[in-house]
Amino acid sequence: MQRRKHVVGNWKMNGDLAANDALLSACLGLPRSEVAVDLCVPFPYLAQAAARLAGSAISLGAQDVSEFECGAYTGEVAGSMLKEFGCRHAIVGHSERRTWFGDTDDRVAAKAARSIAAGLIPIVCVGETLLEREQGRAEEVVARQLDAVLERIGAAGMAGSMLAYEPVWAIGTGRTASPEEAQAMHAMIRAHVREHDARVAAELVVLYGGSVKSSNAASLFACDDIDGGLIGGASLMADDFLRIVDAAARAGIEAKAEAFASAGG
Ligand code: PGA
Repeated sequence: MQRRKHVVGNWKMNGDLAANDALLSACLGLPRSEVAVDLCVPFPYLAQAAARLAGSAISLGAQDVSEFECGAYTGEVAGSMLKEFGCRHAIVGHSERRTWFGDTDDRVAAKAARSIAAGLIPIVCVGETLLEREQGRAEEVVARQLDAVLERIGAAGMAGSMLAYEPVWAIGTGRTASPEEAQAMHAMIRAHVREHDARVAAELVVLYGGSVKSSNAASLFACDDIDGGLIGGASLMADDFLRIVDAAARAGIEAKAEAFASAGG
């Protein structure tokens, strides 16, 4: 199954109007390619980014979304509001939200469902901590996080969603999962979804996130079940981010050539 490569920048709580402007200008200089590029910016900068990205091939996303539709929820941001500002995606269940802001499996599932209802594509993040990996529980934890979402939105909801495997021990630490470790978990995730629906599993975009840099992107993106990256720190450095997108474009071209060759082309 030939899936399009995606590169999603997650700016986290970084930036200011001037720095964003420079970064957006650099991203707008990206050569056209088959790679889907998305930038998830802090809420206050959505309008700035939407204005700069209008008419370009780069899409806009948010880093979180409320589990509620609207109403008396001080500080929350509704999916419909994100939609109005031109968002296409919303990250849900990032490990930083799970760790610091109490996002439980259930709440993450509710946020995924609410995103879909608002017409957004949720990028559902899953991943184990270092302790969980050392205890040999990595797959169990990721499967549990996935099940919470699958129970809520079903295979049909999964068809309109994206996943990101982000081992917590690799986020912002400079320590990346090896391509073999990442591929193994991505294959497990796809197999898990396949139990519900084979077609949805085959088409599902599963990103890898956790210290992706221009130096390791190519080897990660070359893996069969890795459909691109969710990029934190390196998405704030224009040169690095552009090189990561280029690595995704090359990986996409190679995968296409392989598929063509194995089909006897
Ligand atoms: P990192 O962050 O690339 O800085 O490790 C990835 C993420 O948290 O999405």
